[in-house]
Amino acid sequence: MEFEKGISDFYAGRSIFITGATGFVGKCILNKLLTSCSEIVRIYALVRVKPDSMDEIQQGNTQSGIVDSKVFELILKDRPDLLDKICYLKGDMTLPNCGFDKAIMELIRDVEIVIHCAGAIYFNMNLPQVMKINVGGTYNVLTVAMSMRNVKAFVYVSTAFCMHHDTPLEEKVYETNIGPLEAWKSFQNMSQECLQSLTKTILEEKPNSYSYSKYMAENLVESFKDQIPVCVVRPGAILGAYKEPFLGWSNTSSSISRYYHMLFSGYYQTLLINQNGTFAVTPVDYAVNTILAAAWRRGAFSDSGFVVYNCVPTAENLVLHGQIINWGYESVTKGSNPLVRYIFSPGYSTSNYIFRLKNRLCFEVCSLLKDPWSRNRKHSLENQLKKFKIAETFMPFSLNEWNFITTNMKQLHQEMNPEDQKIFYIDFGQINWECFVKSFVDGLSLY
Ligand SMILES: NC(=O)c1ccc[n+]([C@@H]2O[C@H](COP(=O)([O-])OP(=O)(O)OC[C@H]3O[C@@H](n4cnc5c(N)ncnc54)[C@H](OP(=O)(O)O)[C@@H]3O)[C@@H](O)[C@H]2O)c1
Repeated sequence: MEFEKGISDFYAGRSIFITGATGFVGKCILNKLLTSCSEIVRIYALVRVKPDSMDEIQQGNTQSGIVDSKVFELILKDRPDLLDKICYLKGDMTLPNCGFDKAIMELIRDVEIVIHCAGAIYFNMNLPQVMKINVGGTYNVLTVAMSMRNVKAFVYVSTAFCMHHDTPLEEKVYETNIGPLEAWKSFQNMSQECLQSLTKTILEEKPNSYSYSKYMAENLVESFKDQIPVCVVRPGAILGAYKEPFLGWSNTSSSISRYYHMLFSGYYQTLLINQNGTFAVTPVDYAVNTILAAAWRRGAFSDSGFVVYNCVPTAENLVLHGQIINWGYESVTKGSNPLVRYIFSPGYSTSNYIFRLKNRLCFEVCSLLKDPWSRNRKHSLENQLKKFKIAETFMPFSLNEWNFITTNMKQLHQEMNPEDQKIFYIDFGQINWECFVKSFVDGLSLY
């Protein structure tokens, strides 16, 4: 049986097509593939080329573009030849066939594994824009995969926050009442008034437009399950690395990560957070390992079928918002961390009114003490209001209790052989959250 060979052997001799390789998660996937699955034949990476880097990333070039990132430091030092396995393909997933011409389509026809990790990850994008990338883009990637001769596994990277928090999120795709493609196309031509009222309705059910687009994209992916061996991995908030590529490494511009950066830096003295609420945090290496293991399971177990994995902390080892903040605070206040702006240890409030009031008071008193005659107070106040708005964007996550079923995740772990369980670690029960948070915070000033 092929699964007995283990994960690295599954990738050996095969080629892979990946989207989002220039992003936070994508770079870590490339690194893990090259270090732990070094017998892989070729990694075709879809790269969106910005006008100013047109000459830098030439089609098929293997040594430019993304590998200058710190993630690849060890590979560059020890095995730079491995980087030759990456082949960049200029494209854009919002274009039909991702913008690939016939020659490129021919080049990737023998790819057997597809990892679709690209996406728009900002919470407050307008619906047409986020749907175009996350739903339209996913459709184009699925179409490209359909043209491949022998796809063994297609992994879609979604989010654990794709639904409302009111019931535990099961490891299944939740049905939409309108087809994802239909929704994407109709949003593109809608009047501003219609869009505004639709967005309002959607946001009563979903945390934000991003969540809605991922929920729609999951549905689209599932609709291809009879044609391509698809599966879905749903990470929580990806904050940083637990072990790989480096302890505490992070390089993300995601909304949640930027928000946590602000929290740890003391942008608010009172936090709009339920300190006793759990938070679905996923170290980037756990997300990466789950994605690679999910492809292995889909491809190696012919009967595994369409599976969704909630890649989040398991009930046995949850982490609370209050713990994260307190460990982070301890970390930033030790020594002379350049991040720190806290005046005293942070307080919490679950009322937006109290949150604003306390921060406003603190701000007024501090700025008066600092410079009683300042003329810049109005400008600073505007900045304060912006910060309040950012905190409010996170209210669905910071105030509510989110629960997840993780049966498929546990099964995935159990089906790995003992060696793979060490190399492609995904057991959330093993995480020391205090160590994770403290090294993440250290990493913020380090990297
Ligand atoms: N970060 C998190 O906390 C988190 C949590 C749960 C799930 N996820 C999911 O994980 C995936 C990766 O997230 P990330 O944190 O790595 O995001 P990221 O750092 O913002 O990377 C996004 C990637 O998508 C690419 N992309 C965007 N639009 C594209 C287009 N039209 N055509 C081709 N490529 C395009 C970007 O390319 P450019 O470099 O050209 O912009 C980049 O490589 C996403 O699907 C996200 O929804 C992330």
